[in-house]
Amino acid sequence: MKRHLISAADLSRDDALLILDTADELAKISERSIKKLPTLRGRTVVNLFFEDSTRTRISFEAAAKRLSADVINFSAKGSSVSKGESLKDTALTLEAMGADAVVIRHGASGAPHRLASWVRGSVVNAGDGTHEHPTQALLDAFTMRRRLGSLDGRRVTIVGDILHSRVARSNVLLLATLGAEVTLVAPPTLLPVTVDSWPCEVSYDLDAVLPKSDVVMMLRVQRERMNAAFFPTEREYSRRYGLDRDRFARLRGETIVMHPGPMNRGMEIAADVADSPRSTIVEQVANGVTTRMAVLYLLLGGADLGGEIQ
Ligand code: NCD
Repeated sequence: MKRHLISAADLSRDDALLILDTADELAKISERSIKKLPTLRGRTVVNLFFEDSTRTRISFEAAAKRLSADVINFSAKGSSVSKGESLKDTALTLEAMGADAVVIRHGASGAPHRLASWVRGSVVNAGDGTHEHPTQALLDAFTMRRRLGSLDGRRVTIVGDILHSRVARSNVLLLATLGAEVTLVAPPTLLPVTVDSWPCEVSYDLDAVLPKSDVVMMLRVQRERMNAAFFPTEREYSRRYGLDRDRFARLRGETIVMHPGPMNRGMEIAADVADSPRSTIVEQVANGVTTRMAVLYLLLGGADLGGEIQ
Protein backbone atom coordinates (compact mmCIF):
# COMPACT_ATOMS: atom_id res chain seq x y z
CA MET A 1 0.00 0.00 0.00
CA LYS A 2 1.06 3.59 -0.62
CA ARG A 3 1.78 5.82 2.38
CA HIS A 4 -1.19 8.13 1.73
CA LEU A 5 -4.80 7.51 0.70
CA ILE A 6 -5.73 10.49 -1.45
CA SER A 7 -7.55 8.92 -4.37
CA ALA A 8 -9.35 5.62 -4.87
CA ALA A 9 -6.91 5.26 -7.79
CA ASP A 10 -4.10 4.91 -5.21
CA LEU A 11 -5.45 1.43 -4.47
CA SER A 12 -4.60 -1.64 -6.53
CA ARG A 13 -7.14 -4.47 -6.53
CA ASP A 14 -5.00 -6.30 -3.95
CA ASP A 15 -4.79 -3.20 -1.72
CA ALA A 16 -8.55 -2.69 -1.87
CA LEU A 17 -9.27 -6.35 -1.09
CA LEU A 18 -6.76 -6.27 1.79
CA ILE A 19 -8.58 -3.27 3.30
CA LEU A 20 -11.99 -4.94 2.89
CA ASP A 21 -10.75 -8.24 4.35
CA THR A 22 -9.11 -6.41 7.28
CA ALA A 23 -12.37 -4.52 7.85
CA ASP A 24 -14.19 -7.87 7.95
CA GLU A 25 -11.85 -8.99 10.73
CA LEU A 26 -12.25 -5.70 12.59
CA ALA A 27 -16.05 -5.88 12.31
CA LYS A 28 -15.89 -8.78 14.76
CA ILE A 29 -14.49 -6.36 17.35
CA SER A 30 -17.34 -3.93 16.79
CA GLU A 31 -19.79 -6.62 17.81
CA ARG A 32 -18.10 -7.07 21.22
CA SER A 33 -19.02 -5.15 24.34
CA ILE A 34 -15.43 -3.88 24.60
CA LYS A 35 -14.68 -2.51 21.16
CA LYS A 36 -11.08 -1.46 21.65
CA LEU A 37 -7.75 -2.83 20.37
CA PRO A 38 -4.30 -1.67 21.59
CA THR A 39 -2.86 -1.63 18.05
CA LEU A 40 -2.19 2.11 17.58
CA ARG A 41 -1.30 2.92 21.20
CA GLY A 42 1.10 5.85 21.32
CA ARG A 43 0.27 6.96 17.76
CA THR A 44 -1.39 10.29 17.03
CA VAL A 45 -4.16 10.81 14.49
CA VAL A 46 -5.21 14.37 13.69
CA ASN A 47 -8.64 15.04 12.18
CA LEU A 48 -8.36 18.25 10.21
CA PHE A 49 -11.80 19.37 9.09
CA PHE A 50 -12.16 22.55 7.08
CA GLU A 51 -15.68 21.67 5.88
CA ASP A 52 -18.78 20.65 7.78
CA SER A 53 -19.20 16.98 8.50
CA THR A 54 -21.25 14.78 10.78
CA ARG A 55 -20.63 11.14 10.00
CA THR A 56 -17.17 11.25 8.44
CA ARG A 57 -15.53 13.17 11.29
CA ILE A 58 -17.19 11.13 14.02
CA SER A 59 -16.42 7.95 12.13
CA PHE A 60 -12.68 8.68 11.84
CA GLU A 61 -12.60 9.68 15.50
CA ALA A 62 -14.30 6.45 16.58
CA ALA A 63 -12.04 4.40 14.29
CA ALA A 64 -8.83 5.91 15.69
CA LYS A 65 -10.04 5.60 19.29
CA ARG A 66 -11.02 1.96 18.86
CA LEU A 67 -7.44 1.31 17.82
CA SER A 68 -6.21 3.20 20.94
CA ALA A 69 -4.57 6.08 19.02
CA ASP A 70 -4.46 9.56 20.53
CA VAL A 71 -6.91 11.69 18.57
CA ILE A 72 -6.72 15.43 18.03
CA ASN A 73 -9.77 17.01 16.44
CA PHE A 74 -9.22 20.26 14.62
CA SER A 75 -11.98 22.18 12.94
CA ALA A 76 -11.31 25.33 10.96
CA LYS A 77 -14.08 27.19 12.73
CA GLY A 78 -12.63 28.58 15.94
CA SER A 79 -8.99 28.01 14.86
CA SER A 80 -6.35 30.39 13.50
CA VAL A 81 -7.63 29.54 10.00
CA SER A 82 -10.33 32.15 10.64
CA LYS A 83 -7.45 34.60 11.25
CA GLY A 84 -6.10 33.80 7.78
CA GLU A 85 -3.57 31.08 8.60
CA SER A 86 -2.61 29.10 5.50
CA LEU A 87 -2.95 25.34 5.04
CA LYS A 88 0.84 25.10 4.93
CA ASP A 89 1.29 26.80 8.34
CA THR A 90 -1.46 24.65 9.82
CA ALA A 91 0.35 21.59 8.40
CA LEU A 92 3.70 22.65 9.87
CA THR A 93 2.05 23.08 13.27
CA LEU A 94 0.68 19.54 13.09
CA GLU A 95 4.05 18.27 11.99
CA ALA A 96 5.66 19.87 15.04
CA MET A 97 3.14 18.03 17.22
CA GLY A 98 4.17 14.70 15.68
CA ALA A 99 1.05 13.53 13.86
CA ASP A 100 1.40 9.98 12.54
CA ALA A 101 -1.69 10.38 10.35
CA VAL A 102 -3.62 13.43 9.24
CA VAL A 103 -7.20 12.97 8.10
CA ILE A 104 -8.23 15.99 6.07
CA ARG A 105 -11.52 17.31 4.71
CA HIS A 106 -11.19 20.49 2.69
CA GLY A 107 -13.34 22.52 0.28
CA ALA A 108 -10.52 22.74 -2.26
CA SER A 109 -9.92 19.77 -4.58
CA GLY A 110 -6.25 18.84 -4.26
CA ALA A 111 -5.73 20.08 -0.66
CA PRO A 112 -4.79 16.58 0.68
CA HIS A 113 -2.26 16.20 -2.14
CA ARG A 114 -0.58 19.50 -1.14
CA LEU A 115 -0.68 18.54 2.53
CA ALA A 116 1.11 15.26 1.75
CA SER A 117 4.13 17.22 0.55
CA TRP A 118 4.41 19.07 3.89
CA VAL A 119 3.96 16.36 6.53
CA ARG A 120 5.84 13.18 7.32
CA GLY A 121 2.80 11.20 8.49
CA SER A 122 0.18 9.50 6.30
CA VAL A 123 -2.48 11.72 4.77
CA VAL A 124 -6.00 10.36 4.43
CA ASN A 125 -8.43 12.26 2.21
CA ALA A 126 -11.80 12.57 3.95
CA GLY A 127 -13.29 14.55 1.06
CA ASP A 128 -11.65 17.32 -1.01
CA GLY A 129 -13.97 19.69 -2.87
CA THR A 130 -15.64 17.90 -5.75
CA HIS A 131 -12.63 15.60 -6.23
CA GLU A 132 -12.54 12.43 -4.11
CA HIS A 133 -13.65 10.70 -0.93
CA PRO A 134 -11.88 7.33 -1.03
CA THR A 135 -12.87 6.00 2.40
CA GLN A 136 -16.54 6.55 1.52
CA ALA A 137 -16.02 4.39 -1.58
CA LEU A 138 -14.31 1.74 0.56
CA LEU A 139 -17.13 1.65 3.11
CA ASP A 140 -19.66 1.50 0.28
CA ALA A 141 -17.80 -1.42 -1.32
CA PHE A 142 -17.60 -3.11 2.09
CA THR A 143 -21.37 -2.68 2.55
CA MET A 144 -22.11 -4.06 -0.94
CA ARG A 145 -19.82 -7.04 -0.37
CA ARG A 146 -21.51 -7.89 2.92
CA ARG A 147 -24.96 -7.79 1.34
CA LEU A 148 -24.19 -9.24 -2.10
CA GLY A 149 -20.89 -11.14 -1.92
CA SER A 150 -18.19 -10.52 -4.54
CA LEU A 151 -18.50 -7.31 -6.58
CA ASP A 152 -17.22 -8.88 -9.81
CA GLY A 153 -19.82 -8.26 -12.52
CA ARG A 154 -22.29 -6.58 -10.12
CA ARG A 155 -24.26 -3.72 -11.61
CA VAL A 156 -24.12 -0.51 -9.60
CA THR A 157 -26.19 2.52 -10.60
CA ILE A 158 -25.20 5.90 -9.13
CA VAL A 159 -27.89 8.55 -9.47
CA GLY A 160 -27.96 12.32 -9.04
CA ASP A 161 -25.54 15.18 -8.68
CA ILE A 162 -22.46 13.49 -10.11
CA LEU A 163 -20.87 16.81 -11.06
CA HIS A 164 -20.34 17.93 -7.46
CA SER A 165 -19.91 14.47 -5.95
CA ARG A 166 -16.54 13.30 -4.68
CA VAL A 167 -18.38 10.17 -3.53
CA ALA A 168 -19.35 9.33 -7.12
CA ARG A 169 -15.84 9.83 -8.48
CA SER A 170 -14.19 7.66 -5.81
CA ASN A 171 -16.88 5.00 -6.18
CA VAL A 172 -16.50 4.80 -9.96
CA LEU A 173 -12.74 4.31 -9.64
CA LEU A 174 -12.86 1.78 -6.81
CA LEU A 175 -15.78 -0.21 -8.21
CA ALA A 176 -14.00 -0.49 -11.57
CA THR A 177 -10.92 -1.79 -9.72
CA LEU A 178 -13.11 -4.36 -7.97
CA GLY A 179 -14.73 -5.52 -11.23
CA ALA A 180 -18.23 -4.02 -10.85
CA GLU A 181 -20.09 -2.38 -13.77
CA VAL A 182 -21.11 1.17 -12.94
CA THR A 183 -23.79 3.25 -14.68
CA LEU A 184 -24.21 6.92 -13.82
CA VAL A 185 -27.66 8.48 -14.18
CA ALA A 186 -28.05 12.26 -13.99
CA PRO A 187 -29.39 15.23 -15.88
CA PRO A 188 -26.78 16.27 -18.49
CA THR A 189 -26.15 19.49 -16.52
CA LEU A 190 -25.05 17.48 -13.46
CA LEU A 191 -22.45 15.34 -15.24
CA PRO A 192 -18.80 16.44 -15.50
CA VAL A 193 -17.54 17.12 -19.03
CA THR A 194 -14.76 14.56 -18.52
CA VAL A 195 -17.18 11.71 -17.73
CA ASP A 196 -16.45 10.05 -21.11
CA SER A 197 -13.01 9.12 -19.82
CA TRP A 198 -14.34 7.52 -16.59
CA PRO A 199 -14.55 3.71 -16.42
CA CYS A 200 -18.38 3.59 -16.48
CA GLU A 201 -21.52 3.98 -18.60
CA VAL A 202 -23.84 7.01 -18.60
CA SER A 203 -27.63 7.09 -18.98
CA TYR A 204 -30.30 9.76 -18.70
CA ASP A 205 -33.13 7.28 -18.25
CA LEU A 206 -33.42 6.07 -14.67
CA ASP A 207 -36.43 3.81 -15.32
CA ALA A 208 -34.55 1.91 -18.03
CA VAL A 209 -31.51 1.25 -15.79
CA LEU A 210 -33.18 0.39 -12.47
CA PRO A 211 -34.43 -3.15 -13.29
CA LYS A 212 -30.88 -4.24 -14.21
CA SER A 213 -29.28 -2.85 -11.03
CA ASP A 214 -27.95 -4.86 -8.08
CA VAL A 215 -27.22 -1.61 -6.22
CA VAL A 216 -28.85 1.81 -6.55
CA MET A 217 -26.83 4.57 -4.92
CA MET A 218 -28.64 7.90 -4.57
CA LEU A 219 -26.66 11.13 -4.18
CA ARG A 220 -27.57 14.41 -2.53
CA VAL A 221 -28.10 17.47 -4.70
CA GLN A 222 -25.23 19.63 -3.39
CA ARG A 223 -26.77 23.09 -3.36
CA GLU A 224 -23.84 24.57 -1.44
CA ARG A 225 -21.55 23.88 -4.41
CA MET A 226 -23.98 25.24 -7.04
CA ASN A 227 -23.66 28.75 -8.36
CA ALA A 228 -26.30 28.47 -11.08
CA ALA A 229 -29.56 26.66 -11.85
CA PHE A 230 -28.75 23.10 -12.88
CA PHE A 231 -32.38 21.92 -13.21
CA PRO A 232 -35.75 23.70 -13.54
CA THR A 233 -37.37 22.92 -10.17
CA GLU A 234 -36.94 20.50 -7.27
CA ARG A 235 -40.21 18.82 -8.22
CA GLU A 236 -39.06 18.26 -11.76
CA TYR A 237 -35.71 16.85 -10.53
CA SER A 238 -37.44 14.57 -8.08
CA ARG A 239 -39.92 13.31 -10.69
CA ARG A 240 -37.17 12.36 -13.17
CA TYR A 241 -34.28 11.36 -10.91
CA GLY A 242 -35.75 10.67 -7.47
CA LEU A 243 -36.12 7.18 -5.99
CA ASP A 244 -39.79 7.39 -5.04
CA ARG A 245 -42.13 4.62 -3.89
CA ASP A 246 -43.21 3.67 -7.40
CA ARG A 247 -39.69 3.27 -8.68
CA PHE A 248 -38.68 1.40 -5.54
CA ALA A 249 -41.59 -1.01 -6.02
CA ARG A 250 -40.27 -1.84 -9.50
CA LEU A 251 -36.76 -2.81 -8.32
CA ARG A 252 -35.79 -6.47 -8.24
CA GLY A 253 -36.28 -8.10 -4.83
CA GLU A 254 -32.58 -8.35 -3.96
CA THR A 255 -31.54 -4.87 -5.11
CA ILE A 256 -30.13 -2.71 -2.32
CA VAL A 257 -30.48 1.06 -1.95
CA MET A 258 -27.56 3.17 -0.71
CA HIS A 259 -26.98 6.84 0.14
CA PRO A 260 -23.80 8.33 1.66
CA GLY A 261 -25.79 10.91 3.64
CA PRO A 262 -26.75 13.56 4.42
CA MET A 263 -30.09 12.93 2.65
CA ASN A 264 -32.68 15.31 1.34
CA ARG A 265 -35.66 13.11 2.22
CA GLY A 266 -38.44 13.59 -0.30
CA MET A 267 -36.11 14.95 -2.96
CA GLU A 268 -33.62 12.38 -4.24
CA ILE A 269 -35.06 9.62 -2.04
CA ALA A 270 -38.52 9.06 -0.53
CA ALA A 271 -38.57 8.75 3.27
CA ASP A 272 -40.16 5.24 3.15
CA VAL A 273 -37.48 4.04 0.75
CA ALA A 274 -34.68 5.41 2.96
CA ASP A 275 -36.13 3.55 5.96
CA SER A 276 -36.88 0.25 4.19
CA PRO A 277 -34.98 -2.95 5.07
CA ARG A 278 -33.37 -2.90 1.63
CA SER A 279 -31.78 0.46 2.36
CA THR A 280 -28.24 0.18 3.77
CA ILE A 281 -27.98 3.81 4.88
CA VAL A 282 -27.55 3.17 8.61
CA GLU A 283 -25.37 0.11 7.94
CA GLN A 284 -23.08 2.31 5.81
CA VAL A 285 -22.44 4.50 8.86
CA ALA A 286 -21.55 1.52 11.06
CA ASN A 287 -19.40 0.03 8.32
CA GLY A 288 -17.65 3.38 7.96
CA VAL A 289 -16.03 2.99 11.38
CA THR A 290 -14.77 -0.52 10.64
CA THR A 291 -13.49 0.39 7.19
CA ARG A 292 -11.66 3.46 8.50
CA MET A 293 -10.14 1.35 11.27
CA ALA A 294 -8.77 -0.93 8.55
CA VAL A 295 -7.36 2.04 6.60
CA LEU A 296 -5.64 3.60 9.63
CA TYR A 297 -4.38 0.22 10.78
CA LEU A 298 -2.83 -0.63 7.40
CA LEU A 299 -1.41 2.85 6.69
CA LEU A 300 0.20 3.06 10.10
CA GLY A 301 1.58 -0.45 9.72
CA GLY A 302 -0.04 -1.94 12.80
CA ALA A 303 1.07 -5.27 14.27
CA ASP A 304 -0.23 -8.56 12.90
CA LEU A 305 -3.99 -8.55 13.32
CA GLY A 306 -4.09 -12.30 13.83
CA GLY A 307 -2.45 -11.85 17.23
CA GLU A 308 -4.75 -8.98 18.17
CA ILE A 309 -8.10 -10.60 17.55
CA GLN A 310 -8.67 -13.75 19.50
C1 NCD B 1 -20.68 13.17 1.34
C2 NCD B 1 -19.57 14.18 1.27
O1 NCD B 1 -19.33 14.93 2.20
O2 NCD B 1 -18.93 14.18 0.23
N1 NCD B 1 -21.09 12.82 2.60
C3 NCD B 1 -20.35 11.97 3.39
O3 NCD B 1 -19.15 12.05 3.49
N2 NCD B 1 -21.02 10.99 4.03
C4 NCD B 1 -21.80 13.46 0.40
C5 NCD B 1 -22.58 14.74 0.55
O4 NCD B 1 -22.18 15.68 1.21
O5 NCD B 1 -23.66 14.77 -0.06
